[in-house]
Amino acid sequence: MIDLELLKARFIDKHGLAPRIFRAPGRVNLIGEHTDYNDGFVLPAAIDMATYVAASPREDRIVAAASVNFEGIVSVDLDDRDALPRTDWGKYIQGVAFVLETRGNRLLGADLLIASDIPFGAGLSSSAALEISVGFALASICGNTIDGMELAKIGQAAEHEYGGVMSGIMDQFVSVHGQEGRALFLDCRSLDWSAIPLPDIAFVVCHTKTRHNLADGEYNKRRTECENAAAMLGKTSLRDVSVDDLEKMESQMSELLKKRARHVVTENARVLSAVASINSGDLRRLGELINASHESLRYDFEVSCPELDTMVEIARRQPGVLGARMMGGGFGGCTINLMLPNTRGEFMSKVSRAYRAETSIEPELYDVRIAAGVEEVFINK
Ligand code: GLA
Repeated sequence: MIDLELLKARFIDKHGLAPRIFRAPGRVNLIGEHTDYNDGFVLPAAIDMATYVAASPREDRIVAAASVNFEGIVSVDLDDRDALPRTDWGKYIQGVAFVLETRGNRLLGADLLIASDIPFGAGLSSSAALEISVGFALASICGNTIDGMELAKIGQAAEHEYGGVMSGIMDQFVSVHGQEGRALFLDCRSLDWSAIPLPDIAFVVCHTKTRHNLADGEYNKRRTECENAAAMLGKTSLRDVSVDDLEKMESQMSELLKKRARHVVTENARVLSAVASINSGDLRRLGELINASHESLRYDFEVSCPELDTMVEIARRQPGVLGARMMGGGFGGCTINLMLPNTRGEFMSKVSRAYRAETSIEPELYDVRIAAGVEEVFINK
């Protein structure tokens, strides 16, 4: 948890005036992995781990950001669009500020102090939370209101143009629109979405404490492979391919592209079944779909890694677990585990112990709550 009083006090110490404070959450994804950039379906939920931005406007056009989590001051001159692209955490600040302006939101300079309790590079969307919290803060302190979906698209464009990852819209979308106790069912083509009330189940996130370097490069490579597979099948995107189509048309494609396409096509079908299972209260079926998602990501999409597989295997052995799978882009980071609420305490201690014993790595486990999307935070003092 971030101590907001402390954040405010540090800001006042530095800048001599009280800031406004904004918060944007990280996320879990129940199911629908690597489907967003294929125009498919996803079912994420915002969590109670978030990035907070204390902000106040300046008289010039400089955005000066400091972070409790990282070293140094990031200074972005809004009038210097030819500035060298940053390579540190400041790339997200620079990206969001420039994309906001490009899309017609004239900004004031700002002093920002940022604090986050989302672990970085763990697959919980720390970068989307940074983009959305900073974007929302920069717009709000100028009195601008931005449509939620437009803000999500601005965050995604910053990720593409400045973060170097050709991500889909899922992470930024859920960081904006998250709702307490609800998962969001999003059609990434039409951007139609609905909030799905969640039954009484617990979500435990298990961080493997590994991240393989190839993550971003492999992510972009998967995206290209999916686009190539769709083109070979004469479709705009894999969203337009059904399981039946795939069987009929498979002979035209290489083994590798077949596997990539099979993951996306079957994962889209699993998201639809997962929504139906939640709505009908069939938690066992939901768990089976989550397990099947992991196998598909592991063998067909090939974005898992030994640590994620070990974590999933350990989790599935525990009593009360409905389903477990890797989550997010892959190649390290976290798994998501669905379980009956009364088993989570035992689950957490047993899984930590077993993972440590099998890998010699100390994992981190988070008992997450499903929370609201981006908002201004008011401190009652
Ligand atoms: C990352 C991306 C998302 C999505 C997931 C995989 O989190 O930012 O857009 O593609 O990977 O589902």
